[in-house]
Amino acid sequence: MNLQNPYKSVVLTGDRPTGPLHLGHYIGSLKNRLDLQNSPQSHDMYIMVADTQALTDHFEHPTLVRQYTLELVKDYLAIGIDPEKTTLFIQSQVPELCELTAYFMNLVTVSRLERNPTVKAEIQQKGMQESLPAGFLCYPVSQAADITAFGRLESGTILVPVGEDQLPMIEITNEIVRRFNRLYGPCLQEAKGVLSPTARLMGIDGQHKAGKSLNNAIYLKDSKEVLREKVFQMYTDPGHIHVQDPGKVDGNMIFHYLDAFAPDQEQVRAFKAHYEKGGLGDVVLKKYLFSVLETLLGPIWEKRQTVRDQDAMEVLMHGSKQARQRVQEKMSHVRAAMQLDY
Ligand code: TRP
Repeated sequence: MNLQNPYKSVVLTGDRPTGPLHLGHYIGSLKNRLDLQNSPQSHDMYIMVADTQALTDHFEHPTLVRQYTLELVKDYLAIGIDPEKTTLFIQSQVPELCELTAYFMNLVTVSRLERNPTVKAEIQQKGMQESLPAGFLCYPVSQAADITAFGRLESGTILVPVGEDQLPMIEITNEIVRRFNRLYGPCLQEAKGVLSPTARLMGIDGQHKAGKSLNNAIYLKDSKEVLREKVFQMYTDPGHIHVQDPGKVDGNMIFHYLDAFAPDQEQVRAFKAHYEKGGLGDVVLKKYLFSVLETLLGPIWEKRQTVRDQDAMEVLMHGSKQARQRVQEKMSHVRAAMQLDY
């Protein structure tokens, strides 16, 4: 127990329900969430299914968002997120988050939002230049509300385990917090990103970051056969034609994944040296990587089998009620600070 601060630290994070979780999510953020959940120093931890945010770029596909809301929670439960320790909830079921977003909208400029590098890249990628929805440009403001709504004076900074692409959202959050506190009095707490050493996992194509849209990711719920296929399709060194040829380690996806996931890094170093010298074939390495990933994913596959839709939904409904209570408490302070407490 931390004697200086008897209060638990608050942890808040979430994902958009627009597709299944993949190994990039796992190494970039999910593993950190598990470590926080299971650390001896316990935390007051919340994981949110960001369905409201998912609608900012999927408003034409509500059925998809609804479907992946459940899938996302099944993924969380399968990797070991424990509803006894972590509150899982649905963003839209805590409508006070929208209220807080509305207040925050006044504290940030349009030009500041337009400079957000992650949003800029997404606009490019989705070809939204000509028809950018206001909701999409403003989602970082609603994200600031999601985070700060869970802050507690006694607990200090709010921890946010996320991938590195989310750091610009945390920056905007803290700007809004400082502005709010200056204008209306000290009420909100700042946020701090918790990053993993492998902040960015490449896709099996070796060309882009692993992602849903590029079909280059290994999903947590892929079957054993699909996992094998994907590992055997991985981009390696196109110049490494014969086993005895010296091969390149840099940019070789087998080594990129072994660096991220192999528990025995001594072995990985030995493989690298052998590969660079020549005499080590891709197939041997791919078999090794397959076994590493199968060991990681096997228990996740097994657990996922046991989670029924109705269990996942129950967890979400119960968690949403708890989260809402927590946020309502915070909102009474926010409204008082803003002289809206009639
Ligand atoms: N932007 C995150 C994503 O793309 C989802 C998200 C919404 C989030 N609100 C959040 C993450 C608050 C951390 C904290 O998946």
